[in-house]
Amino acid sequence: MSFKTVQTKPIEGQKPGTSGLRKKTAVFRQPGYLENFVQCVFDGTGGAQGKTYVVGGDGRFFNAEAIGIIIRMAAANGVARLIVGQDGILSTPAVSNLIRKFKTDGGIILSASHNPGGETGDFGVKFNAANGGPAPEKLTDAIYAKTLDIIEYRIADETPTGINQIGRFTMGDTRIDVIDPVEDYETLMQELFDFDAISALFSGGFRMCFDAMHAVTGPYAKRILEDTLGAPAGSVINAVPSPDFGGGHPDPNPVWASELVAIMGASDAPDFGAASDGDGDRNMIMGKGAFVSPSDSLALLTAYAHLAPAYSGKLAGVARSMPTSQAVDLVAERLAIPCFETPTGWKFFGNLLDAGKATLCGEESAGTGSNHIREKDGLWAVLLWLNILARDGRDIVQLRQDHWRSFGRNYYSRHDYEEIPADAANALMTAFRDKLPALTGTSANGMQVSKADEFAYLDPVDQSLTEQQGVRVQFTDGSRLVLRLSGTGTQGATLRVYLERFVARGGDHNLDVQEALAPIIQAAETLAQITKFTGRSSADVIT
Ligand code: G6P
Ligand code: ZN
Repeated sequence: MSFKTVQTKPIEGQKPGTSGLRKKTAVFRQPGYLENFVQCVFDGTGGAQGKTYVVGGDGRFFNAEAIGIIIRMAAANGVARLIVGQDGILSTPAVSNLIRKFKTDGGIILSASHNPGGETGDFGVKFNAANGGPAPEKLTDAIYAKTLDIIEYRIADETPTGINQIGRFTMGDTRIDVIDPVEDYETLMQELFDFDAISALFSGGFRMCFDAMHAVTGPYAKRILEDTLGAPAGSVINAVPSPDFGGGHPDPNPVWASELVAIMGASDAPDFGAASDGDGDRNMIMGKGAFVSPSDSLALLTAYAHLAPAYSGKLAGVARSMPTSQAVDLVAERLAIPCFETPTGWKFFGNLLDAGKATLCGEESAGTGSNHIREKDGLWAVLLWLNILARDGRDIVQLRQDHWRSFGRNYYSRHDYEEIPADAANALMTAFRDKLPALTGTSANGMQVSKADEFAYLDPVDQSLTEQQGVRVQFTDGSRLVLRLSGTGTQGATLRVYLERFVARGGDHNLDVQEALAPIIQAAETLAQITKFTGRSSADVIT
């Protein structure tokens, strides 16, 4: 085994964002691009000598090649042990679990989440820390600092050939354990949920459709849902991870998961539908002909989590990102548990979970999870739903209807204005921000404003302050309007308008969502002057 040190130069733009370094695949394939970044991940986290890491990805184009490079670099940097998923496959939640289970120093995940893959698509590298969660800012800052003055990287000459077979091989002093990507994750799910009840549900004729969207959850869902729990063969569709996700966009929402939406809208629709994204951390939930919004899903899961063994005791608390609807707040109030409101981004839940302050967390952007790992977890959400349905006995649509009858309904929708010039987006936000102090007590479109402010988060665990996390207008009837700029876009700015209208107990809970929200949509236009600033008369994507 021979190692070499390769001279290199800093490459511009290697600043990790919310979810690691995410670029066009072609950018990652440039000579030295991945190598530079991986060396900086090692160097920026205190060096790789003697360390243990988990490595895997969502199977997108360049996944296997990238893993080969990472193994060669790990060996040349003196890593003690790597745990690699067979064929280079590991979902993001599975990596989080493996880091925690085997107490490794961290993990490297190859994925650009729900972004399209393939030669012309996107690729990404994320580093997760020893708690299993996304690297905190101080680590990503340290990695970035290294990318600015890197002069060399270390790599083995030999390309490893063993990752397609479960087993063990060595490169120099580095031991590489190639593991079954599903096994440890399935064991964890078995510890959390009542698998017997779910099996009995399926043997009683319950039918479901899980759309893996040609992405990483295919092998996980097939094994767990079909092989172990006995869902009929074919319950999992698009189950083989493909390098370009079958040419699709692996984002589980009603727009991109249209195949599932069609299946769930048919007259012979199964009882339950679900989908997950490229790397397996997002989820979408459906009943017959009904989309369960992520915000409602979080509220319902909180209300019924006690039916699953792992959550049968009192929940420590729940947490939601600020723009997520307030439906879960009402449940928390009734359960007499704290409800935390955090900025958008899963990393903000980390401290609450580590400190034992929250048990369940969720975001309107299709992320739900718990203290079992430190990432959101798509298949976990599906299994918790199945556990609840198996133990409760009601149909999911009925369960939701009964929930609204008891708590009231928070009608909810997000309107996205994509690729607007950054200047226009900033001008809109500034103008809106300036108006906030004068809004309280006024009325907009017949609704009374009870509070208007810009969200800032004081972390109750480490007291860190995160400011400018979205502007919000709260109305006296419990309705709400939130505006913020996306932190994950790649082209121009994306304006997200989050609309929420509360209809209390006894009101009409079966209105069309956009119709129910019409007064809030109009108030958004009046207050934020979206058309004036963006030149757009309607949103590009409505979910
Ligand atoms: C990623 C993060 C989520 C976040 C989402 C939306 O998926 O992991 O935590 O909610 O991006 O971010 P955005 O800034 O685009 O609204
Ligand atoms: Zn994802």
